[in-house]
Amino acid sequence: MDDDVNRSGAPRDDVAGLTAGDVAGGPLPVHVACVMDGNGRWASRRGLPRTEGHAAGEEALLDAVEGALELGIPWITMYAFSTENWKRPADEVRYLMGFNESLLMRRRDELNEKGVRIRFAGRRDWRVPKRVLRRMDESIELTKGNRRCTLTMAFNYGGRAEIVDAVQALVAAGTPASKITEKAIRAHLYFPDHPDPDLVVRTSGEHRISNFLLWQIAYSELVFDDVLWPDFRRQNLFAAVRDFQQRQRRYGGVT
Ligand code: FPP
Repeated sequence: MDDDVNRSGAPRDDVAGLTAGDVAGGPLPVHVACVMDGNGRWASRRGLPRTEGHAAGEEALLDAVEGALELGIPWITMYAFSTENWKRPADEVRYLMGFNESLLMRRRDELNEKGVRIRFAGRRDWRVPKRVLRRMDESIELTKGNRRCTLTMAFNYGGRAEIVDAVQALVAAGTPASKITEKAIRAHLYFPDHPDPDLVVRTSGEHRISNFLLWQIAYSELVFDDVLWPDFRRQNLFAAVRDFQQRQRRYGGVT
């Protein structure tokens, strides 16, 4: 939860002038995943209800997608609601369900026109209102032919839940223990065709993963930005990519 109002979060002047061209010449991540954290603190600092911070986060989300499109990044995943976020106050949970639904209605045509395929990773359980599931299905259907970029919204998503679901599916199919391998588990994740994220960005100065893509981030590069999510713009993405380009990836080997 992000209710500490006193830490971090000034918008970063140091990245304001960055452009896609500043990083486009170097190695680019194929898949970027973001933990959109800090909406509540952004709102609290302005004396606003936390929900206003989520509303302000919409602009940041769309601008981050624009940045990814500018760079030609083909996969982007956004953490929009975790399996643990049901513990938030009931009013906020209700707001977030409605907000995700209305965000899809407001933005799906625009995303579709830009060639973005929309997907959702997470559990479609009874707690997700039917009308939200309907909007999700409509958005998937509308955009399923797009290939410029796949935007996956992690919604009612938990990394542990995803691994449990994969193992349960294998066991339910009668898979013998000796066949429950890394390859088999991967093949039963929500989207086996997604490449693992090369880069994970978390905003708001928190340095943790919070149950995001636990299987897939085994060798991801992690970048933590102090900016609160509503102040995130494509320049912050470019800065994260610039950090990524300084990293040496070894995957357990030597260089
Ligand atoms: C993880 O932190 C962060 C998330 C699951 C992102 C939550 C994002 C929203 C609710 C806003 C979505 C905004 C848009 C624009 C769609 P955590 O707070 O769940 O975990 P923590 O307790 O470890 O910090």
